[in-house]
Amino acid sequence: MTSDTTVPVFAPAKINLCLHVTGQRADGYHLLDSVVAFADFGDRLWFEPSDNMTLSITGPFAQGVPTNDTNLVWRAAVHAGASQAITLEKNLPHGAGIGGGSSDAAAVLRHFERPEVAASLGADVPVCLQSCAQRMQGIGDELAQLPSLPPLWAVLANPGVHLSTPQVFTALNQKQNSAMPSEIPAFVTARDAITWLDQTRNDLQIPAIRCAPVIENVINALTAVAGAHAVRMSGSGATCFALFETQDAARAGAKTLAQEYPDWWIKDCALS
Ligand code: C5P
Repeated sequence: MTSDTTVPVFAPAKINLCLHVTGQRADGYHLLDSVVAFADFGDRLWFEPSDNMTLSITGPFAQGVPTNDTNLVWRAAVHAGASQAITLEKNLPHGAGIGGGSSDAAAVLRHFERPEVAASLGADVPVCLQSCAQRMQGIGDELAQLPSLPPLWAVLANPGVHLSTPQVFTALNQKQNSAMPSEIPAFVTARDAITWLDQTRNDLQIPAIRCAPVIENVINALTAVAGAHAVRMSGSGATCFALFETQDAARAGAKTLAQEYPDWWIKDCALS
């Protein structure tokens, strides 16, 4: 933990490069098999010791984010036993399938060195503790670090709809789907990663499109971008992504898409 209160703690966007739903437990939670990567773009948090816990939210997606104990950041700080004045710069859209709240909570636990309470805050919080590529299984609690990804770029696109994760899981008709291959190879090039990902899926994409048909437009728009590969949705949506072999291609793709769809949130980023 750094005691320098001016240094922000980074909470990167979480991207499910693929997400297979392989079953459902008796308690309703779904069994997953997912490759998770992290972007070099995300939220930022500042901490300052305080007699009273406070949470201030700034940034382009501050609107609608609770500033009380219903916020995962607040709850994570309480779990960590830390009374703090917290500032959260919300750069990521929320309810968007890229782990905003989970990554923020994980950043709090990382900062206060209390990783053991991660799972109690949400199924996606444990994977966000480490900002590196992982295979996530179980309900999100079985994690295996993957070899570092090769240089890989993405364009993220969100049409501005909020999706409720439980609603999307409920809309999934077939709960028993095939897992990923048991061995995930070490990818040397972006092309290797893309070729392997082409055999995988996000099983929540079709139910999410049923809940928010605009997601299909996002998939089609990303697919039409020059140099775009492995286009699909992240998490339970509505953010979708395309992968690119070069940073220039991702930047150009994001620029073109932003001109065509000025109302969508569009961001190019590196993944690791
Ligand atoms: O754990 P968390 O509160 O983030 O999950 C939100 C909801 O998403 C759960 O209440 C559950 O409906 C659904 N979920 C699931 N299976 C998972 C993760 C989440 O059904 N593995």
